[in-house]
Amino acid sequence: MDQLTEGLEQAGGSVDWGRRALAVFPDGSNGEFGFPPGLAPVIARGEGARVWDTSGREYWDLTMAWGSALMGHAHPKIREAVIRALSDGYNFAGVNRRGVELAERLQSLVPCAERVRFVASGTEATLMCLRVAQAVTQRSKVLKFEGAYHGQHPVGVASMLNGRSVTLPQSDPSGAGAGWVERDVLVAPFNDLATTVKILESHCQELAAVIVEPLHRCLAPLPGFLQGLREATRRLGIVLVFDEVVTGFRFGLSGAQGYFGVTPDLAAFGKALGGGFPIGAYAGRSDLMEVVNEQRLPGPNYAWSASTTGGNPISCAAAMAALDLYSEPGCYDRLHETGTRFRSILESVLVSTETQGQVLGLGPLAQVAFASHPVFDQQTWLASDRARGRRVMLELVRGGIYLNPMGTKLYLSMFHSDEVLQRFGEEFQGALIATSNLGDHL
Ligand SMILES: Cc1ncc(COP(=O)(O)O)c(C=O)c1O
Repeated sequence: MDQLTEGLEQAGGSVDWGRRALAVFPDGSNGEFGFPPGLAPVIARGEGARVWDTSGREYWDLTMAWGSALMGHAHPKIREAVIRALSDGYNFAGVNRRGVELAERLQSLVPCAERVRFVASGTEATLMCLRVAQAVTQRSKVLKFEGAYHGQHPVGVASMLNGRSVTLPQSDPSGAGAGWVERDVLVAPFNDLATTVKILESHCQELAAVIVEPLHRCLAPLPGFLQGLREATRRLGIVLVFDEVVTGFRFGLSGAQGYFGVTPDLAAFGKALGGGFPIGAYAGRSDLMEVVNEQRLPGPNYAWSASTTGGNPISCAAAMAALDLYSEPGCYDRLHETGTRFRSILESVLVSTETQGQVLGLGPLAQVAFASHPVFDQQTWLASDRARGRRVMLELVRGGIYLNPMGTKLYLSMFHSDEVLQRFGEEFQGALIATSNLGDHL
């Protein structure tokens, strides 16, 4: 038996599907995860906070479609809304009734959303925020924070990985083929307002935008950081973009901008907005958003914006149903309580196993950094024991927890009951013990 077949059989017998995935997708996946051969579950179905793989093995899901299934998998109300919408047609590219309703709802909920446009993913939403800012200011440079991910376009991934060592504000393309980002992307350390403001002041004549995730990966902003960014960008005439692809509708109906009380000029949404269906939206001040108004074509102050499936009625119907669920009384209290409870379980397991570590996150999100020093930015995160983190995550997958072992966040949903959190705590304890004395061989 070769190593791959052995691994696949140990993983629960999903030999055919695992092999088929490896034969068709690079690394057997549609992106990320990075499972060792044989461990990658091929998902057959999901319900609530559980998924089942093709061998019938059940997992508790702690990645929840990377946060898009905030109301759980296959929620009956989202499913019904989509089924109802299907018979009216799936996509028109043009404006449709459900799209108008959803855009109006965003306008009424999100502080910065004076105007809205739909796209099909978070990647497109952040890309369009940057292009709007570049077109309005007629400048090409943007500033992002070290370690941030804003989607799979070149700016979105710049300086996300621990690639070539550079001195900030210089950026690193984080991979091959987009060397131009070194010219147009500046990078600042998250949570370091003084350094960021200095960079902004020295480059304000050439900077179009600052893009920031209000919760940077899983790192909370220090008090005053977002407010300071708002003040400096306003003073210097730079567009402030919030990437709310993760935080939007996860912390509350008004996004992180409502939660932290800081209104950006533009914001990008995706993930939870669609309740699991593909969606993206960018929104912001009407004077800025006017730059995509086709009446300006082909004028100098115009930026092309079009998305074939953006705002399709099926995704909009799913999003409206998801927003109805988020609007139910107590929804966000419950999500925040679940997150707080989860983080306290993780903390007590770290203490009981005498593991050096800290639990990051806010709202229904968490991540563990194996470090004895405080983790608040990319450098302190990189100095944590990430190899241990990966071993722990792979051990959790072996124990029946579905997650992304690339070291990303743990996403919770409405279906993560206390019982699920306790069960995760037990698995986490087992994984910490099992990995405590291993080398970095995985
Ligand atoms: C903060 C952030 N922005 C943007 C994106 C890109 O969204 P999508 O995968 O829908 O393109 C992601 C995806 O994980 C994200 O976490």
